[in-house]
Amino acid sequence: MDEFQETPKESLRINQIASIDEVKEAINYFNMVFTPTLSQRFSDLDKYSEKIFQYANICVVKENKRYKGLSVLYANNTETKMAYLPLMGVIPQSQNKGIGRLLISECINISKRKGMENLKLEVFLSNIKAINFYKNAGFNFLEKASSESIYMLRKL
Ligand SMILES: CC(C)(COP(=O)(O)OP(=O)(O)OC[C@H]1O[C@@H](n2cnc3c(N)ncnc32)[C@H](O)[C@@H]1OP(=O)(O)O)[C@@H](O)C(=O)NCCC(=O)NCCS
Repeated sequence: MDEFQETPKESLRINQIASIDEVKEAINYFNMVFTPTLSQRFSDLDKYSEKIFQYANICVVKENKRYKGLSVLYANNTETKMAYLPLMGVIPQSQNKGIGRLLISECINISKRKGMENLKLEVFLSNIKAINFYKNAGFNFLEKASSESIYMLRKL
């Protein structure tokens, strides 16, 4: 037996969540990553978790079993073929390392596989970092969503 086995390198893993307990855990973990926080947006996080578990594709990126990034994607409207990305977030200490890019690529692939033609999201106009990130990922401005936010769209 090799006495000097290499210790495994720190590695990023992306996978889709397949259990409601893990969705609840992840949603609670990423609560503060978003502005407004998820608990400010949704009065009952467990209920919100159950809703996305039923209808959405939920991906997490983990490094050494610790959560780093989360995406929630609806890619089930076969009439409009419009996928929608309500949540995408990376914990602050792990931003700018390509984790967001990994998540958005996975969301694009899932959407294409499910026959979607466009991917849409809403972003606050004040969130310059996210707007630039989405532009670099191929999104364009679509229209105002509210006085403080816009929709962005990417053709698939
Ligand atoms: C917006 C957000 C999801 C981007 O995620 P991220 O992991 O920081 O994004 P990435 O690291 O993939 O890309 C960010 C930049 O890092 C750079 N980068 C990518 N890989 C890199 C690497 N390996 N090393 C260094 N820099 C890298 C990229 O060039 C990119 O720059 P660009 O946006 O000008 O292309 C993240 O900032 C976030 O979670 N923000 C808070 C929540 C939020 O606002 N979500 C969006 C709501 S709509």
